[in-house]
Amino acid sequence: MALSGDMGKIGRRYSHYLNESPSRPKMTIPGLRKLYRQGTPITMLTAHDYISGRIADEAGVDMVLVGDSLAMVALGYKDTNEIGLDEMIHHTRAVSRGVESAFLVADLPFGTYGKNGDQTYESAVAMVKRGKTEAVKLEGGIEIADQIAKITALGIPVCGHVGLTPQRQSSLGGFKVQGKTAATAMSVLRDAIALQEAGCFAMVLEAVPDRVGELVTSKLKVPTIGIGAGPGTSGQVLVQLDMLGGFDSFVPKFLKQYANMLDHNRAAIREYSEEVKQRQFPAKPHCYTINDREFEEFANLAEKI
Ligand code: KIV
Repeated sequence: MALSGDMGKIGRRYSHYLNESPSRPKMTIPGLRKLYRQGTPITMLTAHDYISGRIADEAGVDMVLVGDSLAMVALGYKDTNEIGLDEMIHHTRAVSRGVESAFLVADLPFGTYGKNGDQTYESAVAMVKRGKTEAVKLEGGIEIADQIAKITALGIPVCGHVGLTPQRQSSLGGFKVQGKTAATAMSVLRDAIALQEAGCFAMVLEAVPDRVGELVTSKLKVPTIGIGAGPGTSGQVLVQLDMLGGFDSFVPKFLKQYANMLDHNRAAIREYSEEVKQRQFPAKPHCYTINDREFEEFANLAEKI
């Protein structure tokens, strides 16, 4: 749609109200199952606010995850365990306003589930009702399978998360690769099977050797979404700011950076700052106009003050 006059100059910021971008069919759990059956890799990407949700959605990913990684990469917390349920809900609601077609999943943060079925159910319901998410993600395996079974039976879709579970990084001794021995790989597989039986529609499989990722995936009937789990999983997930080069405090081995956002943004901001100092910005094209007669009258009136 063409914009006219000053509305055209205001530009892109308001274009979404005018529905300029053509949307695609809504992704659903049956849609994800179809991709899985066809052997088409499922794409998932995190988003932490309205605009990152909109970018991921418009770029065509199948699932958007409001991961609790937002604690570290967007809010500057030391680890993911510092974030609370209300903060996650606030960000999830913002992301939901930017996501039209992708299937939306949100993390339940540390300490808001796992105590008992009621606590897990109440946190999941709050995330769905107030966060406007379509599904929740919980970290853990056999030990929380009964609680997951309770909420999936009540109609809340759950994405599991096994392998490296960052919310437990203290007890794991840090962000360590899991399943590097036959015994620990079996424990990842047992957890994955327990989550499948509890009704998870998919599960994130994080930081395991690629052959373990592939074998665990082959033993399941629901998709695995890998992060640092090699190419043999049913799909892949990355943290958006990480893959765009927008967070440089920690760059894990599995990460591929598809852009260099920090350098790009710093250079752009330096240029802006320089142009303001040099009085090069704003220039004529960035200015609103007033007709000569109105301005003359205004100048005459102003003179009297
Ligand atoms: O918190 C997060 O962003 C995640 C993904 C890395 C899977 O859990």
